[in-house]
Amino acid sequence: MEKQAIMKWTKKHLLGIEELSSEEIVLILDQAEEFKEILTRPIPKVPTLRGKTIVNLFCEPSTRTRSSFELAAKRLSADTVSVAAAASSFVKGETLKDTARNIEAMKIDMIIMRHACPGAPHFLSKCVKASVVNAGDGAHEHPTQALLDVFTIREKLGKVKGLNVSIIGDIAHSRVARSNIWALTKLGANVTVCGPKTLMPLEIEKMGVRVTHDIKEALKGADVINVLRIQLERQKETLFPSIREYIKCFGINREKLEKYAKKDLVIMHPGPINRGVELSQDAADGEHSVILHQVTNGVAVRMAVLYLLSAVR
Ligand code: CP
Repeated sequence: MEKQAIMKWTKKHLLGIEELSSEEIVLILDQAEEFKEILTRPIPKVPTLRGKTIVNLFCEPSTRTRSSFELAAKRLSADTVSVAAAASSFVKGETLKDTARNIEAMKIDMIIMRHACPGAPHFLSKCVKASVVNAGDGAHEHPTQALLDVFTIREKLGKVKGLNVSIIGDIAHSRVARSNIWALTKLGANVTVCGPKTLMPLEIEKMGVRVTHDIKEALKGADVINVLRIQLERQKETLFPSIREYIKCFGINREKLEKYAKKDLVIMHPGPINRGVELSQDAADGEHSVILHQVTNGVAVRMAVLYLLSAVR
């Protein structure tokens, strides 16, 4: 297990993993471990954030992140409000700044925001006095996903440092990939990224990762693979010949796992899964998969984030 962090949390916002130190990441993970224990109790609720009000402002679809933040806030006894962009005054032309300032005028403490534009939560944090948490901004960052991913790795394998972690799929359009690379490299993992050349950002190796376009290379010696969905909604042109071709080259299935992977490989996926594309049914649900553990851990990790940010003025 990584050394426990001995430090005080000082950041008001959580906008990305890039700006966190390894000590700050470990502090969140340690705090999440304490909250995970609370979630196993018959009454999984504590009064820690009683009197605080947290707004979920989601301008892109979400199942896991939105419900996980909402549950995390409720488990800490905070009041929560959800604003879905499609049913809000965004559709009447209200700007993000006006929306946020109006919400803030109702005396709230924190805004959790997902937005299609990279940097939108950073902009919001300059417009309001409330704390802002980035719940995914375009293809830029998804910090709480990376935190729950490294939490799950640490829980399953006892450490992150020195592990071989391969991130496989659409790296170019993935905020999960970017946040995971920051978190994993800061914690000392050896990170490989694998996917078609057209789905690989230029100069990604400058982030301290090994790049391969060969799935055998990505699986060989990997302790963990984090498999990503092809984000067709973010692609402006066709970037590979066909889904069939993609499945053949990069899809993870039992045959590839038996041929190339370690017996104790851990398979992760942030969801939503395109079953039969990046992961076969048996790979998604098989003995290697910790995908639903990731979702469970997401609540504890988000409780830790809300708790730590709420203490900073
Ligand atoms: N992993 C993740 O961000 O899932 P949602 O889009 O459902 O929130």
